[in-house]
Amino acid sequence: MSNVPLVLGIETSCDETGVAIARGFDLLAETVASSMAEHARFGGIVPEVASRAHLEALGPALAATLEEADLGLNQLDAIAVTAGPGLTGSLTVGLAAAKALAWALGKPLYGVNHVAGHALVDQLVDGPFSGPVLALVVSGGHSSLLVIDGAQITQLGQTLDDAAGEAFDKVGRLLGLPYPGGPEIDALARRGDPAAIAFPRALTRPKDMALHRYDFSFSGLKTAAARWIEAAQDDGREVPLADFAASFSQAVADVLTAKTVVAARDLGLKTVVIGGGFSANSQLRDMARERFGASGLEVRIPPPRYCTDNGAMIAAAGTHGIVHGLTPSGLGIGADSSMPSTQLVA
Ligand code: KG4
Ligand code: ZN
Repeated sequence: MSNVPLVLGIETSCDETGVAIARGFDLLAETVASSMAEHARFGGIVPEVASRAHLEALGPALAATLEEADLGLNQLDAIAVTAGPGLTGSLTVGLAAAKALAWALGKPLYGVNHVAGHALVDQLVDGPFSGPVLALVVSGGHSSLLVIDGAQITQLGQTLDDAAGEAFDKVGRLLGLPYPGGPEIDALARRGDPAAIAFPRALTRPKDMALHRYDFSFSGLKTAAARWIEAAQDDGREVPLADFAASFSQAVADVLTAKTVVAARDLGLKTVVIGGGFSANSQLRDMARERFGASGLEVRIPPPRYCTDNGAMIAAAGTHGIVHGLTPSGLGIGADSSMPSTQLVA
């Protein structure tokens, strides 16, 4: 393997088929195909439909990425693929392809962690991490606070119930918005007053901060939002969509950023990276820049297209594992739908 490894990344954990090639932390080419349009009418991801879509999209995505990078398969140094967490059937499609490539090319296989990838992708944009970082990973399935120190990942806290994106998607459904609700609520919120409705901030009172200092909970907020909609409907009032969306988003962004600042202060960490589909949220991005900046923290947030699922995050996770000397995965690894965030490589 050359000094700076040429890594292929394959992501198929949910509804996006992502393929990317990176040389070290330089992204050379990438392709993302989404099957979201096929799921939207069901109001959620249909696993069987997602698996089939990966099967159809993966070959063409690989060919397009190699062509864009002007590279042949035999020039690659390593194959990185999402091993988990995610939908088992979807993960299996990517893993099967990655194993076949690794075996046929005689190159090492790295089965990497999707959640860690959401934070590690930032290195393709803002350069390699120069020391330990605090990572807030918020997506449709996860809301976690992690410390990433080289290949060592520690989990400080996570959501006790719904993930941030999941809460947005569920409330979006109650508001009659198309699936997924996250980006729809974000767009509405930009025109609304975030102080219009006082939604609860869970696990922020002193007693909760003692027990669940770095944990989140969004199911109470979701219920409060549902009650508010019901009460309005009972009274024959229209829900003020923009104000409702802005106030709801504010409540989520407030808790996420406040707890992240506390964790950074507690642990003496100077750099915060935010990743995952929900980090595309404009209120979270604005509030994070403002609050983290005011606390003297370096803020690293990748552009929105690297927040939602993609192959670049998996190439970055592979490179990170290689740079920090992790052992490749054997060809016998399987999909791990609940792979722990602390495990970078299977
Ligand atoms: O990371 P991701 O693409 O898939 C998972 O790993 O879960 O995240 C998808 C989630 C969905 O819940 C979606 O509604 C949410 O990210 N999302 C957003 C925005 N863009 C995507 N939520 C709020 N505001 C957005 N702009
Ligand atoms: Zn994701």
